[in-house]
Amino acid sequence: MNEADLSHALQILDQSGVVGIPTETVYGLAARIDRPLGIDRIFTTKERPDFDPLIVHVASIEQAKACTTKWGRLAQTLAENFWPGPLTMVLPKASFISSKITSGLESVGLRCPNHPITLKLIAFAGPVAAPSANRFGKTSPTTKDHVLSEFDHKVFTLDGGPCQVGIESTVVGVFDDHLEVYRLGMLTASMLKEVVDVPVLVKESPVSPGALKHHYMPDVPMYVIEENQVLPGSLSKLKMNKIILSDDAAVAARELYQKMREACKPGIEALLLVRKESQKSEGWDAIWNRVSKALTEY
Ligand code: TXA
Ligand code: MG
Repeated sequence: MNEADLSHALQILDQSGVVGIPTETVYGLAARIDRPLGIDRIFTTKERPDFDPLIVHVASIEQAKACTTKWGRLAQTLAENFWPGPLTMVLPKASFISSKITSGLESVGLRCPNHPITLKLIAFAGPVAAPSANRFGKTSPTTKDHVLSEFDHKVFTLDGGPCQVGIESTVVGVFDDHLEVYRLGMLTASMLKEVVDVPVLVKESPVSPGALKHHYMPDVPMYVIEENQVLPGSLSKLKMNKIILSDDAAVAARELYQKMREACKPGIEALLLVRKESQKSEGWDAIWNRVSKALTEY
Protein backbone atom coordinates (compact mmCIF):
# COMPACT_ATOMS: atom_id res chain seq x y z
CA MET A 1 0.00 0.00 0.00
CA ASN A 2 1.05 3.57 -0.67
CA GLU A 3 2.10 5.05 2.71
CA ALA A 4 1.97 8.62 1.37
CA ASP A 5 -1.70 8.15 0.42
CA LEU A 6 -2.46 6.73 3.85
CA SER A 7 -0.88 9.67 5.66
CA HIS A 8 -2.65 12.10 3.35
CA ALA A 9 -5.98 10.41 4.15
CA LEU A 10 -5.22 10.56 7.89
CA GLN A 11 -4.43 14.26 7.61
CA ILE A 12 -7.70 15.00 5.79
CA LEU A 13 -9.68 13.06 8.42
CA ASP A 14 -7.84 14.87 11.22
CA GLN A 15 -8.84 18.20 9.65
CA SER A 16 -12.54 17.25 9.58
CA GLY A 17 -12.54 16.25 5.92
CA VAL A 18 -14.03 13.24 4.16
CA VAL A 19 -12.11 10.45 2.41
CA GLY A 20 -13.17 7.64 0.07
CA ILE A 21 -12.27 4.27 1.62
CA PRO A 22 -12.23 0.74 0.19
CA THR A 23 -14.10 -2.05 1.95
CA GLU A 24 -14.95 -5.59 0.85
CA THR A 25 -18.60 -4.61 0.22
CA VAL A 26 -18.62 -1.17 -1.45
CA TYR A 27 -16.50 1.99 -1.14
CA GLY A 28 -17.38 4.27 1.80
CA LEU A 29 -17.26 8.03 2.33
CA ALA A 30 -15.57 8.35 5.71
CA ALA A 31 -15.21 10.97 8.43
CA ARG A 32 -13.88 10.57 11.98
CA ILE A 33 -16.68 10.08 14.51
CA ASP A 34 -15.07 12.72 16.76
CA ARG A 35 -15.14 15.41 14.04
CA PRO A 36 -18.71 16.84 13.86
CA LEU A 37 -17.83 18.98 10.85
CA GLY A 38 -16.57 15.91 9.04
CA ILE A 39 -19.86 14.14 9.77
CA ASP A 40 -21.74 17.17 8.37
CA ARG A 41 -19.61 16.96 5.24
CA ILE A 42 -20.66 13.34 4.65
CA PHE A 43 -24.29 14.44 4.45
CA THR A 44 -23.62 17.50 2.25
CA THR A 45 -21.24 15.65 -0.08
CA LYS A 46 -23.72 12.82 -0.60
CA GLU A 47 -26.79 15.10 -0.63
CA ARG A 48 -28.10 12.64 1.92
CA PRO A 49 -31.19 13.37 4.06
CA ASP A 50 -30.45 13.53 7.77
CA PHE A 51 -32.95 10.77 8.63
CA ASP A 52 -30.57 8.15 7.24
CA PRO A 53 -28.18 6.84 9.96
CA LEU A 54 -24.49 6.19 9.26
CA ILE A 55 -22.56 3.01 10.03
CA VAL A 56 -19.57 3.37 12.37
CA HIS A 57 -16.59 1.36 11.11
CA VAL A 58 -14.19 -0.11 13.66
CA ALA A 59 -10.94 -2.05 13.42
CA SER A 60 -11.45 -4.35 16.41
CA ILE A 61 -13.98 -5.80 18.84
CA GLU A 62 -12.48 -3.51 21.53
CA GLN A 63 -13.32 -0.39 19.50
CA ALA A 64 -16.84 -1.73 18.86
CA LYS A 65 -17.44 -2.38 22.56
CA ALA A 66 -16.56 1.23 23.34
CA CYS A 67 -19.26 2.45 20.93
CA THR A 68 -22.16 0.60 22.59
CA THR A 69 -23.64 0.33 26.08
CA LYS A 70 -24.60 -3.28 25.49
CA TRP A 71 -22.10 -5.74 24.09
CA GLY A 72 -23.69 -9.07 24.97
CA ARG A 73 -23.19 -12.72 24.20
CA LEU A 74 -24.85 -12.53 20.78
CA ALA A 75 -22.77 -9.55 19.63
CA GLN A 76 -19.60 -11.33 20.74
CA THR A 77 -20.55 -14.54 18.90
CA LEU A 78 -21.42 -12.69 15.69
CA ALA A 79 -18.24 -10.62 15.79
CA GLU A 80 -16.08 -13.69 16.38
CA ASN A 81 -17.69 -15.49 13.45
CA PHE A 82 -18.17 -12.75 10.89
CA TRP A 83 -15.77 -9.87 11.57
CA PRO A 84 -13.93 -8.49 9.82
CA GLY A 85 -16.68 -8.94 7.24
CA PRO A 86 -19.97 -7.81 5.65
CA LEU A 87 -22.01 -7.67 8.88
CA THR A 88 -23.33 -4.48 10.52
CA MET A 89 -24.69 -4.93 14.04
CA VAL A 90 -27.21 -2.40 15.37
CA LEU A 91 -26.74 -1.97 19.14
CA PRO A 92 -27.60 0.66 21.80
CA LYS A 93 -25.26 3.60 21.24
CA ALA A 94 -22.70 4.91 23.71
CA SER A 95 -23.37 8.50 24.74
CA PHE A 96 -20.34 9.93 22.88
CA ILE A 97 -21.70 8.72 19.52
CA SER A 98 -23.43 11.85 18.20
CA SER A 99 -27.08 11.76 17.25
CA LYS A 100 -26.05 13.20 13.89
CA ILE A 101 -24.37 9.88 13.14
CA THR A 102 -27.40 7.85 14.24
CA SER A 103 -30.03 10.29 12.88
CA GLY A 104 -31.41 10.73 16.35
CA LEU A 105 -31.77 6.99 17.03
CA GLU A 106 -30.59 5.55 20.34
CA SER A 107 -28.90 2.72 18.43
CA VAL A 108 -25.75 2.66 16.32
CA GLY A 109 -24.71 0.44 13.38
CA LEU A 110 -21.24 -1.05 13.92
CA ARG A 111 -19.14 -2.87 11.36
CA CYS A 112 -15.55 -4.09 11.11
CA PRO A 113 -14.80 -4.07 7.35
CA ASN A 114 -12.57 -6.72 5.81
CA HIS A 115 -10.05 -4.59 3.97
CA PRO A 116 -6.40 -4.20 5.07
CA ILE A 117 -6.07 -0.56 3.97
CA THR A 118 -9.17 0.61 5.80
CA LEU A 119 -8.38 -1.46 8.89
CA LYS A 120 -5.00 0.25 9.01
CA LEU A 121 -6.58 3.67 8.51
CA ILE A 122 -9.01 3.07 11.40
CA ALA A 123 -6.26 1.69 13.62
CA PHE A 124 -4.57 5.12 13.33
CA ALA A 125 -7.59 7.45 13.06
CA GLY A 126 -10.03 5.67 15.38
CA PRO A 127 -13.55 4.69 14.27
CA VAL A 128 -14.96 6.39 11.18
CA ALA A 129 -18.57 6.86 10.13
CA ALA A 130 -19.03 5.91 6.50
CA PRO A 131 -22.04 5.49 4.25
CA SER A 132 -21.57 4.12 0.75
CA ALA A 133 -19.68 6.70 -1.35
CA ASN A 134 -22.45 7.56 -3.80
CA ARG A 135 -24.92 10.40 -4.14
CA PHE A 136 -28.08 9.56 -2.18
CA GLY A 137 -30.28 7.02 -3.94
CA LYS A 138 -27.68 6.16 -6.58
CA THR A 139 -25.69 3.00 -7.30
CA SER A 140 -22.97 2.23 -4.73
CA PRO A 141 -19.34 2.43 -5.93
CA THR A 142 -17.18 -0.69 -6.12
CA THR A 143 -13.94 0.87 -7.44
CA LYS A 144 -11.94 4.01 -6.69
CA ASP A 145 -12.85 5.39 -10.13
CA HIS A 146 -16.56 5.06 -9.34
CA VAL A 147 -16.05 7.25 -6.25
CA LEU A 148 -14.04 9.83 -8.19
CA SER A 149 -16.65 10.14 -10.92
CA GLU A 150 -19.51 10.18 -8.39
CA PHE A 151 -18.13 13.34 -6.73
CA ASP A 152 -16.41 15.03 -9.71
CA HIS A 153 -12.91 14.08 -8.50
CA LYS A 154 -13.34 16.24 -5.39
CA VAL A 155 -13.03 13.48 -2.80
CA PHE A 156 -9.58 12.02 -2.06
CA THR A 157 -9.98 8.25 -2.27
CA LEU A 158 -7.72 5.39 -1.23
CA ASP A 159 -7.33 2.71 -3.89
CA GLY A 160 -8.09 -0.75 -2.53
CA GLY A 161 -8.94 -2.38 -5.85
CA PRO A 162 -12.39 -3.66 -6.84
CA CYS A 163 -14.64 -4.69 -3.91
CA GLN A 164 -14.75 -8.44 -3.39
CA VAL A 165 -18.33 -8.76 -2.08
CA GLY A 166 -19.83 -6.01 -4.22
CA ILE A 167 -23.09 -5.20 -2.39
CA GLU A 168 -23.63 -3.56 1.01
CA SER A 169 -23.35 -5.38 4.33
CA THR A 170 -26.14 -7.31 6.05
CA VAL A 171 -27.61 -5.00 8.74
CA VAL A 172 -28.77 -6.88 11.85
CA GLY A 173 -30.49 -5.59 15.00
CA VAL A 174 -29.03 -7.48 17.96
CA PHE A 175 -31.37 -8.06 20.94
CA ASP A 176 -31.11 -10.24 24.07
CA ASP A 177 -33.17 -13.08 22.68
CA HIS A 178 -33.32 -12.66 18.89
CA LEU A 179 -31.83 -11.02 15.80
CA GLU A 180 -33.64 -8.81 13.26
CA VAL A 181 -32.26 -8.54 9.73
CA TYR A 182 -32.98 -4.96 8.57
CA ARG A 183 -31.06 -5.10 5.30
CA LEU A 184 -30.25 -8.29 3.40
CA GLY A 185 -26.66 -8.91 2.34
CA MET A 186 -24.46 -11.72 1.09
CA LEU A 187 -24.25 -12.92 4.68
CA THR A 188 -27.65 -14.66 4.74
CA ALA A 189 -30.12 -15.33 7.56
CA SER A 190 -29.22 -19.04 7.31
CA MET A 191 -25.55 -18.24 7.84
CA LEU A 192 -26.46 -16.21 10.94
CA LYS A 193 -28.67 -19.05 12.22
CA GLU A 194 -25.77 -21.48 12.02
CA VAL A 195 -23.88 -19.67 14.79
CA VAL A 196 -26.63 -18.44 17.16
CA ASP A 197 -29.28 -20.25 19.22
CA VAL A 198 -31.97 -17.55 18.96
CA PRO A 199 -34.61 -16.73 16.31
CA VAL A 200 -33.46 -14.70 13.30
CA LEU A 201 -36.31 -12.55 11.94
CA VAL A 202 -36.06 -10.88 8.55
CA LYS A 203 -37.85 -7.53 8.62
CA GLU A 204 -36.65 -4.62 6.61
CA SER A 205 -36.77 -1.67 8.95
CA PRO A 206 -38.52 1.61 8.16
CA VAL A 207 -35.55 3.28 9.91
CA SER A 208 -33.29 1.72 7.27
CA PRO A 209 -33.49 3.97 4.21
CA GLY A 210 -31.57 1.27 2.39
CA ALA A 211 -35.06 -0.21 2.58
CA LEU A 212 -36.70 2.72 0.73
CA LYS A 213 -38.35 1.72 -2.50
CA HIS A 214 -36.11 3.77 -4.78
CA HIS A 215 -32.45 3.38 -3.97
CA TYR A 216 -29.39 2.19 -5.86
CA MET A 217 -30.79 3.74 -9.08
CA PRO A 218 -28.64 3.72 -12.25
CA ASP A 219 -28.51 6.79 -14.52
CA VAL A 220 -31.06 5.38 -16.99
CA PRO A 221 -34.14 3.22 -16.15
CA MET A 222 -33.41 -0.45 -15.55
CA TYR A 223 -36.07 -3.04 -16.37
CA VAL A 224 -36.07 -6.65 -15.25
CA ILE A 225 -37.64 -9.55 -17.15
CA GLU A 226 -37.74 -13.24 -16.38
CA GLU A 227 -35.93 -15.54 -18.79
CA ASN A 228 -38.47 -16.86 -21.36
CA GLN A 229 -40.55 -13.69 -20.85
CA VAL A 230 -41.24 -11.71 -24.02
CA LEU A 231 -40.11 -8.09 -23.95
CA PRO A 232 -43.19 -5.89 -23.31
CA GLY A 233 -44.14 -3.84 -26.39
CA SER A 234 -43.73 -0.56 -24.52
CA LEU A 235 -40.02 -1.28 -24.09
CA SER A 236 -39.21 -2.76 -27.48
CA LYS A 237 -38.47 0.58 -29.14
CA LEU A 238 -35.90 1.69 -26.55
CA LYS A 239 -32.17 1.52 -27.21
CA MET A 240 -31.22 -0.96 -24.50
CA ASN A 241 -28.15 -2.56 -23.02
CA LYS A 242 -28.63 -6.06 -21.61
CA ILE A 243 -27.14 -7.11 -18.27
CA ILE A 244 -26.55 -10.81 -17.72
CA LEU A 245 -25.35 -11.89 -14.29
CA SER A 246 -23.06 -14.84 -13.57
CA ASP A 247 -24.76 -18.03 -12.37
CA ASP A 248 -22.56 -17.91 -9.28
CA ALA A 249 -24.26 -15.61 -6.73
CA ALA A 250 -20.96 -14.43 -5.22
CA VAL A 251 -19.67 -13.41 -8.64
CA ALA A 252 -23.02 -11.87 -9.60
CA ALA A 253 -23.00 -9.69 -6.45
CA ARG A 254 -19.40 -8.62 -7.08
CA GLU A 255 -20.26 -7.58 -10.64
CA LEU A 256 -23.77 -6.16 -10.23
CA TYR A 257 -23.06 -2.45 -9.62
CA GLN A 258 -20.07 -2.42 -11.99
CA LYS A 259 -22.26 -3.87 -14.75
CA MET A 260 -25.06 -1.40 -14.04
CA ARG A 261 -22.60 1.52 -14.34
CA GLU A 262 -20.85 0.14 -17.44
CA ALA A 263 -24.13 -0.45 -19.22
CA CYS A 264 -25.15 3.22 -18.90
CA LYS A 265 -23.30 4.24 -22.09
CA PRO A 266 -24.09 7.49 -23.95
CA GLY A 267 -27.11 6.99 -26.20
CA ILE A 268 -28.43 4.06 -24.17
CA GLU A 269 -32.02 4.69 -23.06
CA ALA A 270 -32.55 1.76 -20.70
CA LEU A 271 -30.94 -1.30 -19.12
CA LEU A 272 -32.48 -4.75 -19.32
CA LEU A 273 -31.60 -7.33 -16.71
CA VAL A 274 -32.68 -10.91 -17.38
CA ARG A 275 -33.41 -13.04 -14.32
CA LYS A 276 -32.90 -16.77 -14.73
CA GLU A 277 -34.90 -19.46 -12.95
CA SER A 278 -31.61 -20.91 -11.61
CA GLN A 279 -30.81 -17.63 -9.85
CA LYS A 280 -33.49 -17.76 -7.17
CA SER A 281 -32.08 -19.58 -4.12
CA GLU A 282 -31.49 -17.84 -0.75
CA GLY A 283 -27.95 -16.85 -1.74
CA TRP A 284 -29.56 -14.59 -4.38
CA ASP A 285 -32.03 -12.79 -2.06
CA ALA A 286 -29.79 -9.79 -1.36
CA ILE A 287 -29.01 -9.37 -5.06
CA TRP A 288 -32.70 -9.31 -6.07
CA ASN A 289 -33.41 -7.05 -3.10
CA ARG A 290 -30.98 -4.42 -4.49
CA VAL A 291 -32.24 -4.94 -8.04
CA SER A 292 -35.87 -4.48 -6.91
CA LYS A 293 -34.97 -1.03 -5.55
CA ALA A 294 -32.95 -0.01 -8.59
CA LEU A 295 -35.48 -1.05 -11.22
CA THR A 296 -38.19 0.90 -12.99
CA GLU A 297 -41.57 -0.79 -13.37
CA TYR A 298 -43.25 -1.11 -16.76
O1 TXA B 1 -21.40 -2.41 3.37
C1 TXA B 1 -21.81 -1.39 3.92
O2 TXA B 1 -22.58 -1.41 4.88
C2 TXA B 1 -21.32 -0.04 3.36
C3 TXA B 1 -19.82 0.05 3.57
C4 TXA B 1 -19.26 1.40 3.21
O3 TXA B 1 -19.49 -0.31 4.88
N1 TXA B 1 -22.01 1.04 3.97
C5 TXA B 1 -23.30 1.32 3.68
O4 TXA B 1 -23.74 2.47 4.31
O5 TXA B 1 -23.98 0.66 2.94
P1 TXA B 1 -25.10 3.18 3.91
O6 TXA B 1 -25.11 4.46 4.70
O7 TXA B 1 -25.23 3.31 2.47
O8 TXA B 1 -26.20 2.28 4.52
C6 TXA B 1 -26.27 2.17 5.92
C7 TXA B 1 -27.62 1.68 6.31
C8 TXA B 1 -28.59 2.82 6.56
O9 TXA B 1 -29.25 3.26 5.41
C9 TXA B 1 -29.55 2.12 7.46
O10 TXA B 1 -30.36 1.37 6.58
C10 TXA B 1 -28.68 1.15 8.25
O11 TXA B 1 -27.50 1.02 7.58
N2 TXA B 1 -28.43 1.63 9.62
C11 TXA B 1 -27.37 2.31 10.10
N3 TXA B 1 -27.51 2.60 11.40
C12 TXA B 1 -28.71 2.07 11.76
C13 TXA B 1 -29.45 2.03 12.98
N4 TXA B 1 -29.00 2.60 14.11
N5 TXA B 1 -30.65 1.40 12.97
C14 TXA B 1 -31.12 0.82 11.85
N6 TXA B 1 -30.47 0.82 10.66
C15 TXA B 1 -29.29 1.45 10.62
MG1 MG C 1 -25.88 3.49 0.56
